[in-house]
Amino acid sequence: MKIGICSDHAGVEYKARLISYLLGKGYDVVNFGTDSTDSMDYADVAHPLATAVENGEVDRGIALCGTGNGMAMTLNHHRGIRAGLAWNTAVGKLVKEHNDANVLVMPARFISYRMAVSIVRAWLLTEFAGGRHKRRIDKIPV
Ligand code: RB5
Repeated sequence: MKIGICSDHAGVEYKARLISYLLGKGYDVVNFGTDSTDSMDYADVAHPLATAVENGEVDRGIALCGTGNGMAMTLNHHRGIRAGLAWNTAVGKLVKEHNDANVLVMPARFISYRMAVSIVRAWLLTEFAGGRHKRRIDKIPV
């Protein structure tokens, strides 16, 4: 599986550590930046990640910013994206099982790195449940 990942300055440290973690687990990873702690605008990396998921360049995406909200708002403007915000392991599982999120968003300033890994694991290892949840996600696009 090829995973695209991006962050702003608030999430750059966790992003770097998650890239190493994912590579160590055998995933292909494409880094969409930023790679600096200098202040930057999350949309400048979120849009390229969203486009890569939409066109199949990567299978899924992970995005981090301070609260996760800026990333989620930007990503969800793309028709092919269901970006879901997760802040604990249970939500990381449910955002895949119920919402089939193809981009996982995390609030780097409000969770530990250990929690970020646990959320990523839950999201990656959980299957979409389908059924009534498929009907629900089909009603999202306007
Ligand atoms: C950066 O200060 C912060 O605004 C950003 O990381 C994010 O939380 C926005 O939603």
